[in-house]
Amino acid sequence: MRKKIVAGNWKMNLNYAEAMTLADAIADGLQEGDCEVVLAPAFPYLQDVLRRIGHHERISVAAQNCASIDKGAFTGEVSASMLASIGVEFVIIGHSERRTFFHDSDKALADKVRLALLFDLIPIFCCGESLQQREDGHHLQVIASQLESALFMLDVTEILSTVIAYEPVWAIGTGMTADPIQAQEMHAHIRSLLSVKYGSEVAKKISVIYGGSVTAANAESLFSCSDIDGALVGGASLKADDFLEIVKVCG
Ligand code: PGA
Repeated sequence: MRKKIVAGNWKMNLNYAEAMTLADAIADGLQEGDCEVVLAPAFPYLQDVLRRIGHHERISVAAQNCASIDKGAFTGEVSASMLASIGVEFVIIGHSERRTFFHDSDKALADKVRLALLFDLIPIFCCGESLQQREDGHHLQVIASQLESALFMLDVTEILSTVIAYEPVWAIGTGMTADPIQAQEMHAHIRSLLSVKYGSEVAKKISVIYGGSVTAANAESLFSCSDIDGALVGGASLKADDFLEIVKVCG
């Protein structure tokens, strides 16, 4: 059985007090369940969120990004090894906001993935097509190429330590969720690409989560799809009740 995961991507939101209140509310409100919960606060809050949720077996902490280089004179960057050294367990890599606004290239993303794994961080590797690409009928190809260029250089052990997040760019922060048929089609496509590259037994074990305007209202229909193993949640992860409801629906 592959792992179910619901991750909250807090992005560049919340001040310190708000972030701590949210972390506490999620830790306090979390009920019994199987799915793993991952919180991704901004860099300055990572260590304190880790301290606050440390007692909680089901919750882990993710960074929202890491550098593509290990160390040195790179002002403003944060390396995978630094994140690992404070106990962070996951790192989001290749989010569309990084690709679009910060020009993260496929090469840089491949380097980030490699470094994350080198320091035992689990990459949550994001892929997704734009609306234009979908309307042109290129969406399946776009995802194949994003995986090919930044993930499929991994060996079997490494890919098994990776989570894939399918996040159609047109669905992020827009309220336009992919419908379950569109999402399932892409998740099945991703699994078949994994299967061709690594074999079906490996493909079956890799969690592929969906992101893009996931809410408590649409989570159930998405999670009922056979290849959707959870969610990467942005906006709805900033309210403890909404996020906890999504986690509950996931199981
Ligand atoms: P959203 O963001 O849920 O606000 O659409 C998802 C994401 O960017 O990971």
